[in-house]
Amino acid sequence: AKVRRYRFHIAYKYKSPDCFQKLSITVNGQSPGPTIIAEQGDTVVVEVQNGLLTENTAVHWHGIRQIGTPWSDGTEGISQCPITPGETFVYKFVVDRAGTYIYHAHYGMQRSAGLYGLIKVAVPEGTVEPFAYDYDRSIVVNDWWHKSTYEQATGLSSVPFAFVGEPQSLLINGRGRFNCSLPSASGAVCNLTNPDCSPSVFTVVPGKTYRFRIACITSLSAISFGFEGHNMTVVEADGYYVKPFVVDSLYLYSGETYSVLVKADQDPSRNYWASVNVVSRKPDTPTGTAILNYYPNHPSRAPPTAPPAGPLWNDTAARLNQSVAIRAHPDHVEAPPAASDRTIVLLNTQNKVDGGHVRWALNNVSFTLPDTPYLVALKYKLKRAFDARPPPESYDYRGYDIRSAPPNPNATSSSSIYRLGFNTTVDVVLQNANTLNPNNSETHPWHLHGHDFWVLGHGAGKFDPSAHPAGVFNLVDPIQKNTVPVHPYGWTALRFRADNPGVWAFHCHVEAHYFMGMGLVFEEGVEKIGRLPDAIMGCGESKRLLRP
Ligand code: C2O
Ligand code: CU
Repeated sequence: AKVRRYRFHIAYKYKSPDCFQKLSITVNGQSPGPTIIAEQGDTVVVEVQNGLLTENTAVHWHGIRQIGTPWSDGTEGISQCPITPGETFVYKFVVDRAGTYIYHAHYGMQRSAGLYGLIKVAVPEGTVEPFAYDYDRSIVVNDWWHKSTYEQATGLSSVPFAFVGEPQSLLINGRGRFNCSLPSASGAVCNLTNPDCSPSVFTVVPGKTYRFRIACITSLSAISFGFEGHNMTVVEADGYYVKPFVVDSLYLYSGETYSVLVKADQDPSRNYWASVNVVSRKPDTPTGTAILNYYPNHPSRAPPTAPPAGPLWNDTAARLNQSVAIRAHPDHVEAPPAASDRTIVLLNTQNKVDGGHVRWALNNVSFTLPDTPYLVALKYKLKRAFDARPPPESYDYRGYDIRSAPPNPNATSSSSIYRLGFNTTVDVVLQNANTLNPNNSETHPWHLHGHDFWVLGHGAGKFDPSAHPAGVFNLVDPIQKNTVPVHPYGWTALRFRADNPGVWAFHCHVEAHYFMGMGLVFEEGVEKIGRLPDAIMGCGESKRLLRP
């Protein structure tokens, strides 16, 4: 195994990813940042230098379990104190599973400001994967706003509440195209000939098969992705081999990664669109496009057709079907433990907290980050660092109508956490419900740090814990993932083993939702962790642990 060293200089820069000039947070001047490339078993060392001048930061390695290195998870308030301006923090971790992963800021709303990139972990030399292809390409999709993330964050935390709204653009590998002649571009620097916003191009040789690794790191949007006129065979999800299935359009949720195989078998005399569209929320964003360039056509030659509009935005049943179709590859099934030791049922609602602030809550508790990272607080028993009362294990499901707005919209906010017995098996059932607005339920992609979980099931309507589980849970070939959606008015059940000593976030990957309290924290085995690095301390109660 090798050591792969990277240096990330984080700084604001003027960028025009969709031709509209705006401040972006960049890594070494780029957004998306450089791709980290490694082989399974390698150690990755990233020196992150905070060059933001007036903002803290922290960088999370999404999908990397951080086995034995819980202090390198990069979650501000949970695994470390933030990296202050001018400071350098060194992340060091082993990439123990081949697959496609993501890195992104885990501080405030900086991910939406552009701090993200890919991690590509190859299988060890000589390993045969359960599918074949000629070339490997990567795609990362993001949604993009012209308002600063400060304006967005201020609106989200104000009374009355001001939502960030639908994105102005969808970006493919950091490139999109805004209509600069719209009134909203007047007075702004918006230039369609800016090279920052020339479309991404994927050049293919007719007859060859391509593996496209597609990562979704949107701030808000659920998306559909497709290549005009081409089918895709889904073969990998979040680092696990999938029982192959064919789609013409793939749904992706923030925090998910997939590999699909595409054969360049269409009329080679022209180019085709790669297109991305918003689903789940009523779209108000133009289709995001890139060019699938059939060699030797000119790469910038526009396809003669209109970009595909994708499937209907509100076809929840189709999206649920895709979720259910994702199963472990028959030759790569790792069966889950047959039973669980504990079941936590989480009702996902929108609520009003502390004088009318709109927040998200789980079982009526809205999550707030403490000033002292949990990892330090738990390891060194710093009492007053967070709320020590355990949060609720379930909600009163018998009387709850998930199709109506919460009858009691008031919720409390808390920094309380779920403490798990080390090596126990935990089930989590995510129950979706109506928001504060009538006839509205959103999609929430839930992401777990420090683990991959088995996806035991998805369903429509209310999950009834008294009538489960044998019949409804898939214990035969569930896929393992680190991010999974819960669909509108539906439920999702997952299982994991609490076998990784540390403190781990579990949250909705919609940036605005996590910011508004849609998350929680699991602790397991902190007593097994050795001395913590000084570099993660220095804030809140952890100040006094630093020797002078
Ligand atoms: Cu990709 Cu806690 O996030
Ligand atoms: Cu959410």
